[in-house]
Formats: sequence, structure tokens, C-alpha cells
Amino acid sequence: MRSTVRPRDPRPLPGTLAPALLEWFAAHRRPLPWRRDRDPYHVWVAEVLLQQTRVVQALPYYEGFLRAFPDLPTLARSPLGRVLRAWQGAGYYARARHLHAAARTILREHGGRFPTTVAELEALPGVGPYIARAVAALAFDAPVVALEANGLRVAARWTGERGDVRTHAVRQRLETALNDVRGAAPGGSFNEAVMELGETVCAPQHPRCERCPVAFGCRAHRELDDPSILPRRAPRRRRPRIRGVVVILTDPDGRWLVQRRPPRGLLGGLWEFPGGKIEPGERREEAARRELREETGVSVGRLEPLGVVRHAYSHFSVELHAFRAEVAASTVVVRAPDRRWVRPAGLTRLPVPKATEKIARLARTRKDRASPGSRFHPGRTAASRTRGDRSVPGRAHGPGSRP
Ligand code: ADE
Repeated sequence: MRSTVRPRDPRPLPGTLAPALLEWFAAHRRPLPWRRDRDPYHVWVAEVLLQQTRVVQALPYYEGFLRAFPDLPTLARSPLGRVLRAWQGAGYYARARHLHAAARTILREHGGRFPTTVAELEALPGVGPYIARAVAALAFDAPVVALEANGLRVAARWTGERGDVRTHAVRQRLETALNDVRGAAPGGSFNEAVMELGETVCAPQHPRCERCPVAFGCRAHRELDDPSILPRRAPRRRRPRIRGVVVILTDPDGRWLVQRRPPRGLLGGLWEFPGGKIEPGERREEAARRELREETGVSVGRLEPLGVVRHAYSHFSVELHAFRAEVAASTVVVRAPDRRWVRPAGLTRLPVPKATEKIARLARTRKDRASPGSRFHPGRTAASRTRGDRSVPGRAHGPGSRP
């Protein structure tokens, strides 16, 4: 019975593994847009997107981003708001901020020439070990291994690794094993071949071992009934749920009050409606009034419940109860650059978090259903139960007072 994983086998992997993998890659390589050339700017943008999403999901964002910012100087010279807007929906906005900041650094400190070494690349804002190695290998053929989820999985299966791949020691082991397999193979095609294998053959749940060009050298395939049990995963912890409120403050012209989050931190620089966390023991309406008062100085009369929006981030989820309230134009004086009135249609031109997009949709749907001249319909309870999109970041719009 081949059902248990044996202790790690220290024997080296076969030397024929890399040539077989490269031969397979040459024949099965998908014509992805960032593979048309080895332009480091293209590789960099693609790798940043691919850190958080799968290839099919990343493709439209990649194309859209490159249409908006076709080269590094254009990106560096664009205002951050435009960059965040182009990134909208791709999630992890800090990455877009880092792309922008790093583009500026390359222009300023490297005369617009892309750095070529891992050390230089790692010195750029937001460029960690993976991106630095991926760009160095894919754009400049550096003899390194760029270890992302696919590479970790492939290497763990090849070597029969039993340890937790999130630990430093195991990662080091797998990196060494991959580098040994790479041998003298060029960094670019070797790394891309490993990623391609992980994405199209050595899939997380259902590896297609019968189609694998290197199954002959894979310990998980040879020794396990179910190779998908590797890499070993610790059970997921339940995400804590944060409950919050959001208020769409509407002026007599039907415009909405929005404010910009601080530039640093979670969802930094994005626009959203006033709101925050519900305190323990507090009713939703009370929380909505309090947050609105604290953030804008406005005390409103009636609050119309719009419904609830749920959103899952990687480490916790939010449940946002949305309300609408009306104010006389004079009540809120908006002179701050980080607060403004927008027409509902104009909101689409601002970079906003996914949850804000959902809340705006909820409000528009309510308004469309409302009879002319009457914006408020007490008694109706809009129930929008939208599942969250996991591509957006680690901390909800909190965990401070903001939901
Ligand atoms: N996943 C991460 N980087 C990738 C790349 N360059 N090509 C395909 N899949 C990837």
C-alpha cells in the first residue's frame, strides 16, 4: 500500500528531469502576452499580477494595464490615482502603489534602465525575493530559481517533501532541489517551464500525472496513491468576521459623499463612503450615525437601510451594512482634497475598493426601483448577499475604526 509519505529521500533527482521538462515546455508553452518578448517591464507587471491571481484572471488586467501604461516612463509619470484606477479589481492595491513607486525609482536612480541583478531588483520598493528572481530569470536569464506557489508544489512533489512549505527551512530545501535540477539550464525557460507545469499539469487538487513529462522523476507520483496530498497543507483557520456600517450621504442633487483613505496601509488611496466598525453592543443604525458624525461632523435624520454586502479578504471577512441618508447641501462643507461629492455615475472614474463598488451597485439598484421623486422607501429591505472576492488584501477596511 503506497498511502503514506516516507521520510524525505536525500537521493538527487534524475539529471534527465530538466531536459525532459524543457523539451515539453518548448512544445506546450502557452503564447502568453508577456512571453512575446523578454522586456523586463512586461515581465515585471505580469509577475506582480500573477502573484495574486491565476493566468486567466490576470490576462485582462495585464492587457488593460499595458494599454494605460505601455512603458515604464509612462507609468512613472502618471498620477497614482490613475494607476490605482487601472488596477481596480485586481486587488492588493499596495502592489499597484509599489509598481508606481518602483517605476519612479528606476527612472530617477537608474536613468530608466531596468536593473538586471537580483540584489538591485530587491532594492526597489515592493520588490521581494520572488519578483526579483522572476524578473532576473525571465527577462535576463539569471541562473536563479524563482519560487512561487507552482514551483513549491512541483518541487515538493518531485522530492516527496513532507514538511510545511510555508516554513523557511522547507523553502530553502526546495529551492536547493530545484536549482540542482536546473543545472546549467537557462534561468528564463527553466523557471517558466516549472510554473507552466504547475499550472497546466501538476495542478493542486487533480494533478494530471498521465500527461506529465517528468513523472518518471517524481517521488510523489511513484510512491503515493494520491500525489495531491503534497505539499502538506496546515488546515485553514476560519477568517474572523468584522461587522461594519457604511453611509451613502446624498445631497439634494443626488450626489454622494466619498472620501479617500490615507495613502499608506490597506486599500490606501482608494475612495469609499464614510463608515466604520460596529462597536460591541451597538446597533447598526447607532453605529452608522456615530461613524458619520465622527468622520464628517454631520448628524442625519433618517437612515434608509440599503442592505448588506459581504466581502472576503485573505485573512478576514467583512459584513458591511449600508445606509443612505440625505443632507441639505450646506450641511457638509467639502474643501479637503480627500473628500468630495460625486455623481453616482462619476464614482466609476475613481479607484474604489471592491466592497464600495458592491455598495454603490446596491444603492443604484434601489434607486432604479424607487418611484420618481422619491428616493426613500422605508420598509423595503434590500438584501444583497454578495460573496467576497478573495483577490483583495489581507486586512479588511480595518482593523482600526474603518470597516
Ligand atoms: N505564474 C507566475 N509567473 C508566471 C509566468 N511568467 N507564466 C505563467 N505562469 C506564471
